[in-house]
Amino acid sequence: MNETSNDTGREPGSEPGSEPGPANFHWRDEYLLGYPPMDNMHREFVIVVEALMSCEQASMGAGLRAVASHLDEHFGEENRWMNEMDFPARGCHIDEHAAVRKSVDEVLALVDAGDLSQVIPLAQALVNWFPGHADYLDSALSAWISKQRTGGKPVVLRRNLDLAREA
Ligand SMILES: [Fe+2]
Ligand SMILES: [Fe+2]
Repeated sequence: MNETSNDTGREPGSEPGSEPGPANFHWRDEYLLGYPPMDNMHREFVIVVEALMSCEQASMGAGLRAVASHLDEHFGEENRWMNEMDFPARGCHIDEHAAVRKSVDEVLALVDAGDLSQVIPLAQALVNWFPGHADYLDSALSAWISKQRTGGKPVVLRRNLDLAREA
């Protein structure tokens, strides 16, 4: 990755009003949702899609297969968390994963037939799709997982706790 800096202290491409696009799709901390295994998966999503956006024609097939394999793991894990933790209304989230994965399969079939024309449009569609999906569906799942893991109680970190008084 070619990192550059600017005077604003913001990451390149993160200026207000700038949308992620082919030249500036990169990890942004605003994508963090608070459940580290999910956040790590999302970092990997950004890496494989960014790589696909910038790869040469000769490596587009391999790049798309890397995206497909990432999505199998990414969606597989999220679907498993939803099922295991009895996440309410998980149907639409699982359906959206399936629809995205199906689109990737359709473009993979074209690539296998020698047609690369839909690879970059698909990569751009993934760039456009990810922030909304993360904001609305993945963030709700992350909050649900945190609630399950803490027994529904908020985690409160207290500083200067006087343990002697409680003894
Ligand atoms: Fe996700
Ligand atoms: Fe998801």
